Amino acid sequence: MSAILPIVLDNLSARLGGRPVLDGLNATLSRPNVTAVIGPNGAGKSVLLRVVDGLVPADGGAVRFGLRPTQSVRRALVFQKPALVRASVARNVGLALIPARLGSSEVRDRVEAALRKVGLADRAGDPAGKLSGGEQQRLALARAAVTEPELLLLDEPTANLDPGATEEIEELVAAMARAGTKVVLVSHNLGQVARIADDVLVLWKGRAVEHGAVDRVLANPRTPEARAYINGELPWTSFAAVS
Ligand SMILES: Nc1ncnc2c1ncn2[C@@H]1O[C@H](COP(=O)(O)OP(=O)(O)OP(=O)(O)O)[C@@H](O)[C@H]1O
Ligand SMILES: [Mg+2]
Repeated sequence: MSAILPIVLDNLSARLGGRPVLDGLNATLSRPNVTAVIGPNGAGKSVLLRVVDGLVPADGGAVRFGLRPTQSVRRALVFQKPALVRASVARNVGLALIPARLGSSEVRDRVEAALRKVGLADRAGDPAGKLSGGEQQRLALARAAVTEPELLLLDEPTANLDPGATEEIEELVAAMARAGTKVVLVSHNLGQVARIADDVLVLWKGRAVEHGAVDRVLANPRTPEARAYINGELPWTSFAAVS
């Protein structure tokens, strides 16, 4: 199977609630590893992930994955607030494999391996609702990892986590990227972006206003919008100044 790169976001537009939320967004993600997507609240980051995942159809434009038919690309999206079902930790992971129609022993093996990867093997039988916030995030990652995605979309996976739990998630994400999964990470944590991303896409009002190597963009943003966001001059006063 051929590579999913480059991922081309070609003039994407999406209207929600009667407003343009993605507004002619263009970017080409040509590198493996981790791409961070940053930008102020409401810029369209979460909607972009949903469009790339295929959950929300674009109203205009297209997402292309190398030469691959879009439907053939295995994608997994981890939401900021993981939606867990009222069942055991293992069952929550196993549910993700239903579409793959695997035999029960293969499901068991894969679930066990995914839980081991995130350090939750000993919690397999516990009700998922009993896990702490950080453990639930790790469970959500296991649920994504078990499907062996080629593209992993993460929406603020460490919001509200303590530094230790954040570091654990970052290590897991970096390890998956090293193992060949392309990762797109939405985060407001610029320290995290600096630690695990290779390139950064800055969104502003539904458009990509800047894209470049992480060190360059964070240290020397070229557009006023990216500068305003990265220098923390947001949210309210600088909107007027730069729009
Ligand atoms: N289902 C929806 N119906 C109507 N409007 C929506 C819907 N989903 C998102 N929006 C709007 O689209 C805009 C972008 O939302 P999105 O969730 O992508 O922002 P974001 O960049 O992820 O922000 P944050 O950093 O706060 O998570 C917002 O103004 C939001 O109100
Ligand atoms: Mg969001």
